[in-house]
Amino acid sequence: MSLKKQDEHDHMGWMQEKQLSPIEKGYLFTLIWLDKRFRIVDYLELLEGLYYRTNLQMPKSHTEQYNLDNKFWYWYPLYALGSFSTIAYVVAAISGALLGFYYSPSTAASLAAGCDATVAYCSIAVIMQDLQFGFMLRSIHRWSAQVMTAAVFLHMLRVYFTGAYKEPRELNWILGIVLISLTMVFGYTGYLLPWDQLAFWAGQIGVEMSLSIPIIGEWVAQLLFGGFSLGQATLQRMYILHVFLLPFVVTSLIAIHIGIVWMQGIAEPH
Ligand code: HEM
Repeated sequence: MSLKKQDEHDHMGWMQEKQLSPIEKGYLFTLIWLDKRFRIVDYLELLEGLYYRTNLQMPKSHTEQYNLDNKFWYWYPLYALGSFSTIAYVVAAISGALLGFYYSPSTAASLAAGCDATVAYCSIAVIMQDLQFGFMLRSIHRWSAQVMTAAVFLHMLRVYFTGAYKEPRELNWILGIVLISLTMVFGYTGYLLPWDQLAFWAGQIGVEMSLSIPIIGEWVAQLLFGGFSLGQATLQRMYILHVFLLPFVVTSLIAIHIGIVWMQGIAEPH
């Protein structure tokens, strides 16, 4: 018998001897099968080593350092605001992805019967009136987006008033400033997508604000809005920012932001 076959034979014999339950047997069999082909045990050990090394670098939390295990800090609920922002973001992302199946970013005149407006506007009308639970899907998306904006703002206040922005957490504070700015850009680009009166005039204000920037104003308006008056180029830019660029960038930044909190430990109340 070859060495490998002998190994396999020994493993199976060991499993029979131990009188394992069918679930345990299934688990071990799968593990051994996968390990033979992909060396997963080596990689799992590598990950485990990495995990312990990273955790060794974690500073002791205030609670651990001063043995305050039994204390309840009355402002602890405010520490949930960051996670609350994350949950609202995930809900908005999922409902937004579903809305994407029905929305069309086009300013062309719609040919749909009973809708004398643009394709974009009429696709939202279809979601609201014809699609089963479409009004609910859109409301979930709008509400989660607004809840996220409010939660992110309140989270920032919590961080400020507990002094959690101080050394060594300055970088995460700056990353937070980028995140709250991008959250607002998310809101603005989404607000323009229905291409209704609110969207159109909000877009107009955006163009005027860009144009008011000294020296580079015209260039900024051209870049962000595709020109000085609103049209297809504007809607297309808002759409691609809202459904493609921002989701990638914001998801990555949130992951880094939370990763830094994990590495540094939470700044607990004093
Ligand atoms: C998309 C937006 C954001 C998300 C999803 C998010 C998420 C989180 C989460 C889950 C935590 C863990 C502690 C907690 O929940 O309070 C945290 C901590 C932190 N966040 Fe945010 N955050 C966001 C925006 C911001 C903003 C706008 C700022 C400030 C300008 C900020 C600065 C910080 C800092 C400094 C910490 C560490 C606080 C500590 O150690 O006590 N974050 N964030």
